[in-house]
Amino acid sequence: MISKQTTKCFIFGALKSLTIKYFIMKNILVTGSVGQIGSELTLELRKRYGNENVVAGIRKTQPSGELKESGPYVVVDATDIKNVSEVVKEYKIDTIYHLAAILSAVAENNPQAGWNVGVNALYNVLEVAREFNCSVFFPSSIGAFGPSTPLDNTPQDTIQRPTTMYGVTKVTGELLCDYYFKRFGVDTRGVRYPGIISNVTLPGGGTTDYAVEIYYEAIKNKKFVCPLAKGTFLDMMYMPDSIRAAIDLMEADPSKLKHRNAFNITAMSFDPEIVADEIKKHIPDFVMEYDVEPVKQAIAETWPNKMDDSAAREEWGWKPKFDLEAMTIDMLKAIGDRYKGNSW
Ligand code: SER
Repeated sequence: MISKQTTKCFIFGALKSLTIKYFIMKNILVTGSVGQIGSELTLELRKRYGNENVVAGIRKTQPSGELKESGPYVVVDATDIKNVSEVVKEYKIDTIYHLAAILSAVAENNPQAGWNVGVNALYNVLEVAREFNCSVFFPSSIGAFGPSTPLDNTPQDTIQRPTTMYGVTKVTGELLCDYYFKRFGVDTRGVRYPGIISNVTLPGGGTTDYAVEIYYEAIKNKKFVCPLAKGTFLDMMYMPDSIRAAIDLMEADPSKLKHRNAFNITAMSFDPEIVADEIKKHIPDFVMEYDVEPVKQAIAETWPNKMDDSAAREEWGWKPKFDLEAMTIDMLKAIGDRYKGNSW
């Protein structure tokens, strides 16, 4: 016999979990979903919130594989406010991860496009978020700092006078996000990403791309020609940590956030020699040569050697899981397996 008490508990339990489910249900739009971060973040968000609830926003490049099969996708040009507004309305979006971006070296070659995608598109996203009451995640970058910033243990709040168009758009973006929160109450949150290392989708035209390419070249040719000079230290992070950072921050208790936007986050800092030596532990005959690219080198020299990310650690519990050693093992295995299977 089932007692009245048990029945009551069961009904109460079912109602409670329904209520919780209702309140945590999200409809998410990811702009730039086929990019380096977007392609992996979208899949992780689908695992957490349900495939149907995460819309992959694309521009020209069509999604493929699991990204295409696992959930909805839609063409959205973030530089067109009408288009953003239509998509948000149609899919009843309440959270936007705005990842559409042009990386630093490409933006330096085409500063007009850098501004359009870096600032005008973000402005459109924020305006639509204001109208439809959406939360917004915006990725800033180590590029938001410049030569007059203290480059060692770069503080959370410090001088920001970047000398690249990419950096100018990131500082503008940080300020816009703060403004939309303070002025309109839009729930904006964001981090300053370091160079991100991953083995699914290649980055395109960033200053830190060498730290991805070196792993592919080590597996394919046992040789890498490095575009940054020996001694150029930069902050870096493995993709699983970058994704967790974005989602954890968006789920963090807002009452604990003093900054909300532009949190410094890092997982490791190295120069080309250090990552090459780590790879040599696994591929002893790996060799690296240097052919320094002046544009990338000039950019890298204005960026921090190592950021202080204590504000992120204190305010929402940020802590990376991968250091250089663990990341190198994982990268070489993932790329090596794919290379053996010839699936690229
Ligand atoms: N990875 C970016 C770049 O190199 C920096 O955020 O452009």
